[in-house]
Amino acid sequence: MFRGIAGSRPQTRRPCDHSAMPDLELLDCGDGRRLERFGSVVVERPAPGAVMPRLLTDAEWKRPSLQWARGAWVRGAAADPWQVRAGDLTLECRPAAGGQVGVFPEHAETWAWLDAAVRKAAGTLGRSPEVLSLFAYTGGASLACAAAGARVAHVDSSKPAVAWARHNAELSGLGEAPIRWLVDDARAFVKRERRRGRRYDGIVLDPPTYGHGEGTWQIETHLPELLEDLSALVGPKPAFVLLSAHTPGFDGERLAALLREHLSVAAEGEDLGLTSASGNRLALGACARSGGVMHGAKTGRSKGAKRGR
Ligand SMILES: C[S@@+](CC[C@H](N)C(=O)[O-])C[C@H]1O[C@@H](n2cnc3c(N)ncnc32)[C@H](O)[C@@H]1O
Repeated sequence: MFRGIAGSRPQTRRPCDHSAMPDLELLDCGDGRRLERFGSVVVERPAPGAVMPRLLTDAEWKRPSLQWARGAWVRGAAADPWQVRAGDLTLECRPAAGGQVGVFPEHAETWAWLDAAVRKAAGTLGRSPEVLSLFAYTGGASLACAAAGARVAHVDSSKPAVAWARHNAELSGLGEAPIRWLVDDARAFVKRERRRGRRYDGIVLDPPTYGHGEGTWQIETHLPELLEDLSALVGPKPAFVLLSAHTPGFDGERLAALLREHLSVAAEGEDLGLTSASGNRLALGACARSGGVMHGAKTGRSKGAKRGR
């Protein structure tokens, strides 16, 4: 069973082997579409960034189990949920709103980085790191941190998303892990935590372009103010910060500049994406990291969710 006890040295599970994520594979992309395999289920969806021609044949693109087109699941809408393995985590996939299935495979590498960052922070602090996970969706980042020994505050304004993340925690053997499950608006929660004088050692946030909740989240308008409030929660030397986004115009360098400006930390940015088994590169957002481990020092590369350049 997982045990991470505040004030004592954390006892974590063994390090995740994030180099092995055979359940997450981009098979091909092109002509505005992406063909992916999540475990045994092949999914075809739009991919605005897939401006290149497809490399697999029409026959290989035919008959995916799930297909999203023109704003709806046109194939597999009633499919039963299924599970995929991602490192040590087990995550449930389902045909969900907006053509999502509950897992962003391009984040697999960031989970590996979080795993290493939490372990490093635990060693430095001599206790379980306190991690704040915002816009936390179905829990991949929160669970990667919890599995590495962090105490996590998981915040998302969608009740179904938080329920899904809790289910993923159970599936991953982290049902008893010290995770606070919070259905809340990220900005409002952070302001309250600031007033309460709460401190966190690490922060991970994956804000959408537009969201919901108090004052309706807009990344352009609200991200700088959110980062200002977060700087009060982590103080001058956070153990790590990971900021990612999938919004056009927010590339790695811009995200890193935002961390430098509002959190006064050194940060490096990079683009996120996947290289398909067929050899096409699909850009899928960007991230900026601060602290943790030097990039490449301990981040696993998965076969399926690999980062080609
Ligand atoms: C899926 S993640 C974002 C992933 C990716 N960056 C993107 O743009 O598609 C977005 C999550 O943020 C949550 N969310 C949206 N607005 C929010 C808000 N104001 N406060 C907290 N969570 C919010 C959503 O419920 C969702 O789970």
